[in-house]
Amino acid sequence: MGQKFYQDFKLGILGGGQLGRMLIQSGMDWNINFSVLDPDPNAPCHSICEFKTGILTDYNTVLEFGQSSDLITIELENVNVNALKELVRQGKKVFPQPHVIEMVQDKRLQKNFYKDNNILTAEFLLVENKREVVAQKAFLPAVNKLGREGYDGRGVQLLRSEKDLDRAFDAPGILEKLVNFEKEISVIVARNEAGETQTFPAVEMVFHPEANLVEYLFSPAAISETVAKEADQIARKIIKELKMVGLLAVEMFVTKDQKILVNEMAPRPHNSGHHTLEANLTSQYHQHLRAILNLPLGDTSIVQASAMVNLLGEEGFSGQAKYNGLEEALKLPGVYVHLYGKKFTKPFRKMGHVTIVDENMESLKKKANFVKSTLKITA
Ligand SMILES: Nc1ncnc2c1ncn2[C@@H]1O[C@H](COP(=O)(O)OP(=O)(O)O)[C@@H](O)[C@H]1O
Ligand SMILES: [Mg+2]
Repeated sequence: MGQKFYQDFKLGILGGGQLGRMLIQSGMDWNINFSVLDPDPNAPCHSICEFKTGILTDYNTVLEFGQSSDLITIELENVNVNALKELVRQGKKVFPQPHVIEMVQDKRLQKNFYKDNNILTAEFLLVENKREVVAQKAFLPAVNKLGREGYDGRGVQLLRSEKDLDRAFDAPGILEKLVNFEKEISVIVARNEAGETQTFPAVEMVFHPEANLVEYLFSPAAISETVAKEADQIARKIIKELKMVGLLAVEMFVTKDQKILVNEMAPRPHNSGHHTLEANLTSQYHQHLRAILNLPLGDTSIVQASAMVNLLGEEGFSGQAKYNGLEEALKLPGVYVHLYGKKFTKPFRKMGHVTIVDENMESLKKKANFVKSTLKITA
């Protein structure tokens, strides 16, 4: 006997950004209907789904939105968790589960989770305000992070020495030892309701020195088999401890002596998994859908080595977005351009990304550099 599959099914996504947009693009393959909530009427999802404008942190808005969906998921963490808990009480499925979102929303809770579960992470102190940071001179060099609502490097402040202390956040957060890492890697892991788990091969992230957000990504990461295996096991351990259903991206530091420290995690599709659309047998978006719909998880094997370049708004430009160098970039073989439908650009705004595949690591890097220096988003 066949089944209707998802024709009469409505998946609600909290957040209408590029991650939601790509999730919808993949979900259409399976006839899934999407409903999306976002405060911005022009959010990247607005024209491709049943789109509702509303505040994601408002209890009643999220409750009402959830009640009109068959299953609720997220594409960003900053949502009203109490409303999600109430939806679960009313019998709705919410994946990732509210308890996971609640913990991830606050870097302080995240750090305590790692500590309680013997997962190695950078040494840290919890701080309530600027005064408490300033009192920790002996702990420098360190990184001060906002507990809540930091993203894309916006809640992270490097404090190398005493003269930087004035930049400390005057809000609850953490003070973390500066890690002199060799590489930053990410492992994306999925788990379905049946408890099946599957990881993607680790990727290497190269960060923009000022903006603190991913500038490049390479898959696979150039790490030893031992490190790769350990990173894989850490990601699996975390998702199992959390009994989480869905997709979880785990960002890690590989130190110069080859130790792995978990930096942070995100329980949703992630910037470090964009390349999987073209470069792996199953994409992170299909995998997220498989996980939350309790379908068999897909094979995540690498088809081809790849690089991903985030297209960030050029510094010095704010306004209606203009794309420069698109045609030159598209002339190269193995180049996939993804634009997010954002009307307005501003410095470092994520406007799109490009995935580049190539069998040869050297020409891959060359092509990635070419794309980065050619494709510019101005106003
Ligand atoms: N303890 C640390 N030591 C060195 N670099 C760090 C540390 N913590 C964060 N960073 C750098 O800052 C980036 C952003 O920090 P992260 O905690 O991941 O914040 P966000 O939520 O903005 O992604 C990291 O990817 C890393 O490059
Ligand atoms: Mg991060």
